[in-house]
Amino acid sequence: MTTPEGGAPESGAEFPADFLWGSATAAHQVEGGNVNNDWWEYEHDPSTAAIESSGDAIDHYHRYADDFALLRSLGHNAHRLSLEWSRIEPAPGEFSAAALAHYRRVLGALADAGLTGFVTLHHFTVPRWFAARGGWLAPDAVEVFERYCARVAAELGDLMPFVCTVNEPQMVALHGYLEGRYPPGVTNAALWKRVGRVLLEAHRSAVRAMRTGAGESSAGLVVQLPLLAPARPDDESCQAFCRAMREEIVDLYLDGLAGPDRGAWLGVQYYRKQWVDPACPTLFAPPPPGTRTSQMGWAAHPDGFRQMLHRASETGLPLYVTENGVATEDDAERVGYLISHLAALARARREGADIRGYLHWSAFDNFEWSAGYGPKFGLVAVERDSGFARVPKPSAYVFERIARTGRLDSTDGRGGAPAP
Ligand code: BGC
Repeated sequence: MTTPEGGAPESGAEFPADFLWGSATAAHQVEGGNVNNDWWEYEHDPSTAAIESSGDAIDHYHRYADDFALLRSLGHNAHRLSLEWSRIEPAPGEFSAAALAHYRRVLGALADAGLTGFVTLHHFTVPRWFAARGGWLAPDAVEVFERYCARVAAELGDLMPFVCTVNEPQMVALHGYLEGRYPPGVTNAALWKRVGRVLLEAHRSAVRAMRTGAGESSAGLVVQLPLLAPARPDDESCQAFCRAMREEIVDLYLDGLAGPDRGAWLGVQYYRKQWVDPACPTLFAPPPPGTRTSQMGWAAHPDGFRQMLHRASETGLPLYVTENGVATEDDAERVGYLISHLAALARARREGADIRGYLHWSAFDNFEWSAGYGPKFGLVAVERDSGFARVPKPSAYVFERIARTGRLDSTDGRGGAPAP
């Protein structure tokens, strides 16, 4: 593990010297040309919720080395990315030596850049052939996933210090099988609940598979933990419904992390507060009138982050924040979001939560799934229409100062030092 250059935190710093600082991406959102997965198919079907094609994304597939060097120069000492299963196993049981060699180069470059790697095995996309045979509902889905994980462990395990097994199983289940706005576009409450449980099994199978491989990977599940509240707190049925949603979206995954294959740590991903309402067709009510919302229509709630970090701590596992961020064209809003959420994290640490790193979502503006390229989550902008140039935003320099000093008061909020 490395600390940011010049970054031995000063005394009085909120964060220790070995804290991991970085950002996160996922293959389909940044690589480009991922034509062999279910998302590509979904994006190209006019009847789905997806508004545009991921296309070339931000061409990270070819630019990874420069991207890692840039992030390192911005004070990061860790980075999260995902492997694209559909490249590694383009047909059932057929593994691509070239794709595995590509990812060896990528993970080697990551280590060479001084970035501790968090490598996700499954971040929303599955190969087309996996989707066609029933996806996560196929009777042998977990075994098939485990076969892929075992191959990755054998070929790349020595380059994967941290492994994120399954990204946000709750969101795969919720968006894909209840709300129908991610592939496979299903709206069926029974299947929603079934897929969540299958993905927990998939997590355990990945933990087992990583043990068989090269190296000493430390595997963990990464879950999104929204702060859920009843939209109508005075209504008993709304409260009960909120409790039931919380059981399905939060408790199932946290309380389900038991046994020898539960993993060695837990990834917490937090974005917002959500208001649950059984009377709304989508089951979630919009934020109350007057609430400031992001480009995604989401309401920030920093104290919810602190609360959910404490809830995640109840697992007894060490925590890493593997995603947290905001979609906005107004970078000053991103700075405010970043600082307020890091303050909530620092407070959770002071109150006893064992949190060892923070990875911002996202490193770069990228492909935001069904919402396409409109929402801007990045610390770094990308000129997709003119040569894919990377342009760090002021928030990237604010993040850098905090990472290098371990102090939230080390910045003027525009990337500079505070006024004397
Ligand atoms: C996902 C990311 C996504 C982000 C913002 C998380 O649900 O893991 O892939 O871009 O949130 O929506």
